[in-house]
Amino acid sequence: MSAHQLTDKVVVITGVGSMRGQGAAAARLFAAEGARVVATDLPSSEGEATATQLGVEFRPLDVTRAEEWKALVEDVVGRHGRIDVLVNNAGLWCATPLLEMVPEEYDRVVAVNQTGVYLGIAAVAPVMRDQGSGSIVNTCSVSGMRGAGQPFAYAASKWAVRGMTRVAAHELAPHGVRVNAVSPGVVDTPMIHGGAEVLDRLAALVPMGRVAQPDEVAHVVLFLAGASSSYISGTEISVDAALTA
Ligand SMILES: NC(=O)c1ccc[n+]([C@@H]2O[C@H](COP(=O)([O-])OP(=O)(O)OC[C@H]3O[C@@H](n4cnc5c(N)ncnc54)[C@H](O)[C@@H]3O)[C@@H](O)[C@H]2O)c1
Repeated sequence: MSAHQLTDKVVVITGVGSMRGQGAAAARLFAAEGARVVATDLPSSEGEATATQLGVEFRPLDVTRAEEWKALVEDVVGRHGRIDVLVNNAGLWCATPLLEMVPEEYDRVVAVNQTGVYLGIAAVAPVMRDQGSGSIVNTCSVSGMRGAGQPFAYAASKWAVRGMTRVAAHELAPHGVRVNAVSPGVVDTPMIHGGAEVLDRLAALVPMGRVAQPDEVAHVVLFLAGASSSYISGTEISVDAALTA
């Protein structure tokens, strides 16, 4: 047996736009584990440069567009013959509270964080069903675990990801396809605006006293993606150092 956990597995990851993001951390780790990684992000992102640096493929993808998902899946299956893993990682932060929210902003957050996950699952699931195997890992958040103090649209979209994870897991289970989610706490990525001062303030809220590095989330995504979690489906794993405990 190979010492690597994902040898020759074909893995699509969304939101691999920044070298400092969780998508890049997952792409790096998955490639080291032998996977054929297809990194995606908006064409306007730094995704292509990031993928080149990581030595993985890049394909432009706006997760809110069904026709782009269709083209991506056709392209990946055409070149690799299959898709073993989908990591729905792309996301949009929005701190606006309910009373200040305008519908256009709400729609944009839901389009990326919620509809983007739906479109990804919908595009990839038929391929996995026909293969009789596959693993989908969605990205939730502590904001999808509670309500107090959470930004309205972002939290709502992440709660929806939890729901989609469970419903999809149940529907796809007879086809050998697993669907799970990772639920990070505070992770030191470009999504946390404000630099060291903000990170220090957030770290003080975490029982373990520090924020996570993207790699610490990527290892859990790897676990959920690969055979080590073969009997786990329809659940989320918190990676939050007891923040929601
Ligand atoms: N950083 C944190 O503290 C934290 C905590 C919990 C959950 N998360 C979630 O983790 C995931 C990764 O975020 P990150 O922390 O690496 O931040 P990030 O901002 O570096 O990564 C998000 C990526 O999504 C991409 N993206 C945005 N809109 C897109 C679209 N329409 N189509 C395709 N790609 C798009 C961005 O270009 C970016 O590269 C997100 O789903 C986020 O909500 C982050």
